[in-house]
Amino acid sequence: MMSQAQPEGTQDGVLLQVSKASKQFAPSLSFGDHIAAWLGQEVDQRIVHAVDTVSLDLHRGEVLGLVGESGCGKSTLGRMMAGIYPASRGSIELDGVPVMGTGKKPLKTTTRIQMVFQDPFASLDPRVRIGETIGEGPLYHGLVDQTRVKAYVAQWLETVGLPAEAAERFPHQFSGGQRQRVAIARALAMQPDVLICDEPVASLDVSIQAQIINLFLKLKHELNLTMLFISHDLGVIRHITDNIAVMYLGRIVERGPTLQVYENPRHPYTRALLDSIPRLVTEGDELVTFKAIEGELPSPLAPPPGCHFHLRCPFAQEVCKSSVPDLTNAPSLPDQDRHVACHFPIG
Ligand SMILES: Nc1ncnc2c1ncn2[C@@H]1O[C@H](COP(=O)(O)OP(=O)(O)O)[C@@H](O)[C@H]1O
Ligand code: SF4
Ligand SMILES: [Mg+2]
Repeated sequence: MMSQAQPEGTQDGVLLQVSKASKQFAPSLSFGDHIAAWLGQEVDQRIVHAVDTVSLDLHRGEVLGLVGESGCGKSTLGRMMAGIYPASRGSIELDGVPVMGTGKKPLKTTTRIQMVFQDPFASLDPRVRIGETIGEGPLYHGLVDQTRVKAYVAQWLETVGLPAEAAERFPHQFSGGQRQRVAIARALAMQPDVLICDEPVASLDVSIQAQIINLFLKLKHELNLTMLFISHDLGVIRHITDNIAVMYLGRIVERGPTLQVYENPRHPYTRALLDSIPRLVTEGDELVTFKAIEGELPSPLAPPPGCHFHLRCPFAQEVCKSSVPDLTNAPSLPDQDRHVACHFPIG
């Protein structure tokens, strides 16, 4: 289906390469804040460190899960990788070409990276028929001509499990799950090299979630998709991804093959995250409790020094308070693909 000619692969099949990329957001001060600051009153002008020196490779044909608690920087990183947000520092390249100039306009590469967002209600124009929504990008970019666009749209609708007649309808005539199928069809119709999905099932009912996850599984096999799949839900990530990257307060703390990481987490945060998956636990006659991670996620306005996790980590030692652990293949880890940012990895 991905008929667009695939460009030459880079070294080791790396398609999208994030190198030491950071993103900081300046405080958004209101007019009143500016006046208060001018009057010498205290105004919170701290910078948000949303993504902090992240290096991450996405290989051709890989489905990589990006997981972590809400607010840890997943969406920001996803948008940087899609060329929507410029990086404050570092670089992001698709086949060796920057996805975005430094703080300037997006480059051509951005059509080769498509995103699917959490909320299919917000991401579709209510006044435009679905067929036009899916067809306009491919028409504009010359992937199809006017004579073939109807059949082209029908083909992508079929791929995501919708009938060809759906092209004539408006977004409000679809259910939430169907709308997400439309959003996926729109992204795929651009024949992207990379699909970035940001919490694509989070706003759907559980039963519908399963259907959309099955659709992603089907697409993964049929189209050999290269995909970044962002989710706070470890249950969702497990079924879809080949590898996962675990994010904590703007940094990647562990990366490796999904099943290995689930079965044998090496970073204390990954272990805590896995332990906190809601599941049935019986305590006497009482149903369900689950172990929550101790403490709150610190604010990205003032991340703790050293290892960001040290305030919550049961294994923290003195060195963790001041020294930032690199994401490395620690010598104690036998698997080549396992990378952990911890001074004292588990196992
Ligand atoms: N456009 C923005 N302006 C200012 N702060 C932002 C913006 N987008 C995200 N943030 C902040 O960056 C941090 C990471 O947010 P986000 O990437 O949305 O995390 P996640 O997707 O993991 O929930 C949060 O503290 C959030 O408030
Ligand atoms: S570096 Fe220290 S504080 Fe951080 S996760 Fe490892 S043991 Fe815990
Ligand atoms: Mg998010």
